[in-house]
Amino acid sequence: MLIVDNISVNYGKMPAIRNLSFSVQEGEFITILGSNGAGKTTTLKAILGLLPSRTGKILFNDVDVTNMSPSERIRMGLSLVPEGRQVFPGLSIEENLELAYFVSHPGKRNRRHYKEMMERMFTLFPKLKERLVQNAGSLSGGEQQMLAIARGLLAEPKLLMLDEPSLGLAPVIIDQVFEILNELNKEGLTVIIVEQDAHRALEASQRGYILETGTVTHGGRSKDLLESQIVQNAYLGQT
Ligand SMILES: Nc1ncnc2c1ncn2[C@@H]1O[C@H](COP(=O)(O)OP(=O)(O)O)[C@@H](O)[C@H]1O
Ligand SMILES: [Mg+2]
Repeated sequence: MLIVDNISVNYGKMPAIRNLSFSVQEGEFITILGSNGAGKTTTLKAILGLLPSRTGKILFNDVDVTNMSPSERIRMGLSLVPEGRQVFPGLSIEENLELAYFVSHPGKRNRRHYKEMMERMFTLFPKLKERLVQNAGSLSGGEQQMLAIARGLLAEPKLLMLDEPSLGLAPVIIDQVFEILNELNKEGLTVIIVEQDAHRALEASQRGYILETGTVTHGGRSKDLLESQIVQNAYLGQT
């Protein structure tokens, strides 16, 4: 479904990722691990088209999207739940959701479809419905993360990418996030997750890749990575 083939991204003259390649099949749940600064966020941004690649190409469902804008890629079925959630704190939950829907469905002012999508989000995240008129900035970290995921889902993605969704959340909320992601994956959504919580992410996913200083150094089945010495030493230190 996704082929990332030899991409490289610089910030100014500084390379952040270099000759990076990996692939994802339809229906998979993929974990990307790596220490701080390894290039995980840069990789996800490049896949969505928020950062240009100097080399290589990105194929999504057999279409070369390398030169497409982020909004074109979103319309094709790519979506990113960004690092740090990035909800609009001064807008209500409803306004945050409405914006996410209409930005990803330009010209499609179909109220009925919008309402259906909103109902789906309320089924997945009942808390959001209870607090619809509340400012997003007044939500707890966990609720903001649920809102950020709902925003990502309103684009009706085929492939959902999440950048460190568990960061700063209580373990019980992290469990809820992973439960929802597993459920969505079972329904057919393809998922790429970038995570600090290597153990949880590898337990939830089928395959994983390790990123070091801007390139993929290892890849394999999640259950093999969980047992591998390299992963245990670098990412599963305390477990
Ligand atoms: N906006 C930016 N400007 C300059 N350098 C950046 C910027 N964002 C990230 N970098 C650098 O690019 C590298 C990869 O960063 P990033 O993709 O954010 O890593 P990760 O998400 O794995 O922590 C790091 O060396 C980081 O310092
Ligand atoms: Mg990051």
